Formats: sequence, C-alpha cells, structure tokens
Amino acid sequence: MTTLTKPEGQASPQDAGAPFLSVRDLYVRFATEDGIVKAVDGLSFDLERGKTLGIVGESGSGKSVTNLAVLGLHNPRNTTITGEITLDGQELTGAPKRTLEKLRGNKMAMIFQDSLTALSPYYTVGRQIAEPFRKHTGASKKEARDRAIEMLRRVGIPQPQTRVDDYPHQFSGGMRQRAMIALALVCDPELLIADEPTTALDVTVQAQILDLLKDLQQETGTSIIFITHDLGVVADVCDDVLVMYAGRCVERGTVREILGKPHHPYAWGLLSSIPRLTASVDVPLQPIKGSPPSLLNPPSGCPFHPRCAFRDEVPGNRCVEERPLLTIENGRGSACHLTAEQKQSIFAERIQPMLGREG
Ligand SMILES: Nc1ncnc2c1ncn2[C@@H]1O[C@H](COP(=O)(O)OP(=O)(O)O)[C@@H](O)[C@H]1O
Ligand code: SF4
Ligand SMILES: [Mg+2]
Repeated sequence: MTTLTKPEGQASPQDAGAPFLSVRDLYVRFATEDGIVKAVDGLSFDLERGKTLGIVGESGSGKSVTNLAVLGLHNPRNTTITGEITLDGQELTGAPKRTLEKLRGNKMAMIFQDSLTALSPYYTVGRQIAEPFRKHTGASKKEARDRAIEMLRRVGIPQPQTRVDDYPHQFSGGMRQRAMIALALVCDPELLIADEPTTALDVTVQAQILDLLKDLQQETGTSIIFITHDLGVVADVCDDVLVMYAGRCVERGTVREILGKPHHPYAWGLLSSIPRLTASVDVPLQPIKGSPPSLLNPPSGCPFHPRCAFRDEVPGNRCVEERPLLTIENGRGSACHLTAEQKQSIFAERIQPMLGREG
C-alpha cells in the first residue's frame, strides 16, 4: 500500500518564496520477496523556476525512483512513500490519482531513459505526440497533428510533415530521443524531468541533444531535473547539482562548487572518473573501487564507508557506526564526518593533482 505522510515542522508550500518544486524527507521503499528495498532514504531538495538541477550518481543510487515518485508513477501495491512533494504550491503527496494524471504530461513531464521502450512500436511518432496534446487541451485531430509536426520541427527533425507518419523503428536513436523530447514538451510543461536522456547516444548526438534542451529551456523557461550518472554532462546544462548515493543526498551545491571543489569523497571519486575533466592524458582515470551497495541491506553508518579511502582519517569507528548528516550552509552541503579542514587539504593535496589540475 502507498502511504503518504507529512513530516512535522515543515513550512507550508504556500509560504512566500517557496520553491517551484520542493521535496522534503522523501522515503521510497519497495516490498520484494527478498525484503524491503530502501531505494530513497530521507531525500530533500528544491528546484527554482526556470533552473536546471542535475541529479548525479552511479546506477542504482535512487535517481529514477526519486523522480518517478515526483510524477506519482510508482505502483502502490508494493511501494511505500513518505515525505512531502509540492509543485508550485500544490501538494502531490497523497493527491488523488486523477489530479496526478492531469498534471502529468501537462504541468510536469518526463523524458525516459530508454526511448525505444518508452515509444510504442505500434503507433506512428506523430500520433504518440498528438494524443496527449488532444487529451490535455481538447484540440481537434487536425490541430493536434499540426502541433506534432511543429514539435518535431522544434526538436530538429528534418521534413517533419512526412516524418510525422513514421514509426519509431524508422527513426535513428538520436531522432527517437528528439521525438521523446517533443512528446515530453508538447503540452508546454513547467517541470521537465530528463532521465539520462543521452546515455545511449554517441558523443556528437549527445552534445546536440544537450544543446537542444538548453535552447528549449531558454525559449520556454521550463524547470528541468536532469538525471545522469556522468558528472561531466552536468557542466553543460545544470545550475545546481545533487549527488546521490544509496538513496541519499551526499553532496549538493552549484555546478561550479561541485565540479570545482567538491567536499565529499564520493564526489571526488566521480570527478576522478570523468575523462573530459582529466586535463592530461598522462593522468590515468581512477574509477571508484568496489560497487554500489545493496539497498536491501545498506551498510551501517556512512553508506559509502566500504569503498571510502578516507574513512581511517575520521577518529574512532564513526564512519561505520554513525550516519553522517547533510549539513547545509548557503545552499551547499555534504554528508561526511571529515572536518572542513580535512576536506580542504585532502582535495588540494591529493585529489587535485590526480585530476591534473592546478590548485
Ligand atoms: N519497482 C521496484 N521494485 C523493487 N526495487 C526497485 C524497483 N524500482 C527500483 N528498484 C531498486 O531501487 C534502487 C534504485 O533504483 P533507480 O532509482 O532505478 O536507480 P538509478 O539511480 O540507476 O536511477 C535499485 O536498487 C533498484 O533495483
Ligand atoms: S563519512 Fe567517512 S566513510 Fe563516509 S565519505 Fe566521509 S570519510 Fe568516507
Ligand atoms: Mg535510472
């Protein structure tokens, strides 16, 4: 059963200056045959109108699950969700199914990770873009078809008047991704969630899709959540970044802060594994050792401790025993027991040289 509860002591979403999207103390748990999967574990973040927030983390860190919760797309039969999600002052947590259906595709939309499975092979691309437009606006068939052609043109599909009648398999991977963007944007949503929209594409097409998203955002002022496992991609598109690990936020700040001087050992690991940020070819890439933890049985204390090269620098056994809290100052925060001085000196003396950067 899906249970949605409101944490106590939170400000009302209608408060003046409340962010466009606000997520507070979000927990998402799945009941499975093997036990309870703690996919999202006390996550909070805000997104301002017209801004882009990058959510970054390795596969399985809870990025998609978080955003499917925002859209209200989890199966209530095996999912328990607690926390508070508000969009433009409207509470989504506990909202009736019909309200969420109305908002989805209209006020908020998602570009899914895999365009091949997200588009139905049995309907033309044009029909798949036109249908939600008809449903949400009451437009005629002709108007909706014209809108689909217009959207295909906007996302850079050549000869949209004829390609509108193609089936998805007649489109290349890059064109399908563009069609997915057209589908997501057809009703001018105010919130767009792009879930790894460029992962399956080659580097050139990836850059084109990122440019397209940036242009569309400038035109429409849409707020975007951009999900990726690649910290390198966020530099191009995001204003702020939230780094997720084991269903939690381990670090957040502006894109400049997180890419320039991250505070968390996991973010150091992500930075060290990005080819394009590594200045010299002589500097070998440093993939993060080990693999992401099981969310059925997450590690005690800091969930990153089994993989962390710096845990012995924290006195006692704190990293194993005590969960580090996310401490936020001026919008910037990280969840790690290292002191501010330790983080600064480790980054300057050991991480920066590895990245081949000047201090
Ligand atoms: N419907 C589900 N039932 C059980 N476990 C799930 C379900 N959906 C996702 N998970 C698990 O939740 C965790 C987070 O998944 P996800 O958010 O998809 O990760 P990612 O960060 O790669 O997007 C993973 O361990 C995944 O296996
Ligand atoms: S709390 Fe400890 S284990 Fe976790 S990231 Fe910081 S140093 Fe590493
Ligand atoms: Mg995902």
